[in-house]
Amino acid sequence: MGVAIPQIETVSFLSHQTILTSGGFPRSLCSLGMTAKLRAGHPHPIFNGDLMKDSLFTIIDNKIIAKDVYKMSLCGDTSAINNAGEFVNIQLDGFYLRRPISVCDVEGDVLTLIYKVVGKGTEAMSEMTPGTELKLLTGLGNGYDLSLAGDSPLLIGGGVGVPPMFLLAKKLLAQGKRVSVILGFNTADEVFYEDEFKALGCSVTVTTVDGSRGIKGFVTDALPDEYTYFYTCGPMPMFKALNRAVKTSGQFSFEERMGCGFGACMGCFCQTLFGSKRICKDGPVLRREEILWAD
Ligand SMILES: Cc1cc2nc3c(=O)[nH]c(=O)nc-3n(C[C@H](O)[C@H](O)[C@H](O)COP(=O)(O)OP(=O)(O)OC[C@H]3O[C@@H](n4cnc5c(N)ncnc54)[C@H](O)[C@@H]3O)c2cc1C
Ligand code: FES
Repeated sequence: MGVAIPQIETVSFLSHQTILTSGGFPRSLCSLGMTAKLRAGHPHPIFNGDLMKDSLFTIIDNKIIAKDVYKMSLCGDTSAINNAGEFVNIQLDGFYLRRPISVCDVEGDVLTLIYKVVGKGTEAMSEMTPGTELKLLTGLGNGYDLSLAGDSPLLIGGGVGVPPMFLLAKKLLAQGKRVSVILGFNTADEVFYEDEFKALGCSVTVTTVDGSRGIKGFVTDALPDEYTYFYTCGPMPMFKALNRAVKTSGQFSFEERMGCGFGACMGCFCQTLFGSKRICKDGPVLRREEILWAD
């Protein structure tokens, strides 16, 4: 068990609108798509620094994996994606604001995203077919700091907070850590990626609020006695409950609504001990100790 830290209560947001290279995916879409153009010096750059890249990706797969939840694989220039916990911002025809989605996995030039249909933008994404090109801003967000994990970190994902845990688990396992994962959902038909985390070599616990799969209750009902550190992503009520229940230091990744997504519009503040932080630029990952939790 790690060192107990003082509890601080509140989070205050001024937020507004915010591959598997060869593993079964049709590589022809990839090789015929933008990757070749990018390599040929046709990158559509808007932000061409080390941190962000705006470029075209080609959808190679887009299928439903749970109730209202889709897995989309895309091929393109993933070179700006470095850390687990980063996100991409997707430009959709007919929508002014881009839609932020966490990086679930990246292998070579194949990026995997998992998204839930909650409105018009994600509904439009769910109807897209392989071969469709999408403009993505990549290299966004700070990502999780793995250096604090200790030997046996605990990863806790709630609903669409599960996807960023996948790349994080891969990276921690590659460092020789013993990784435990709690995946929290409302009902059995919402559960996804249980087998994928097991296949990685994680110890996996599923919770559902109605008890239709795994442990009945919330992720806080499944916390183990021993873990060295925690990483989490999910909805705010889950964060607040976790903050009261966890015994170690850890990191929270916020999926608040966003505007620009890269620090320019000042539309995604979180109050911290060090003043206001922009979730999109200074986050989305913040450390437990710095967050001012609002009731
Ligand atoms: C850093 C970050 C990472 C994210 N990662 C993922 C991910 O991996 N998978 C995923 O499914 N979603 C993720 N989201 C949330 C996702 O961006 C929104 O669900 C999406 O933008 C909604 O677009 P829409 O056009 O379908 O819905 P809209 O028409 O914009 O809104 C529909 C409804 O969803 C609500 N809503 C919209 N955005 C959010 C949000 N961010 N949080 C809570 N409620 C929202 C609205 O209030 C409204 O009730 C992430 C958000 C952020 C900021
Ligand atoms: S969304 Fe514009 S500053 Fe964060």
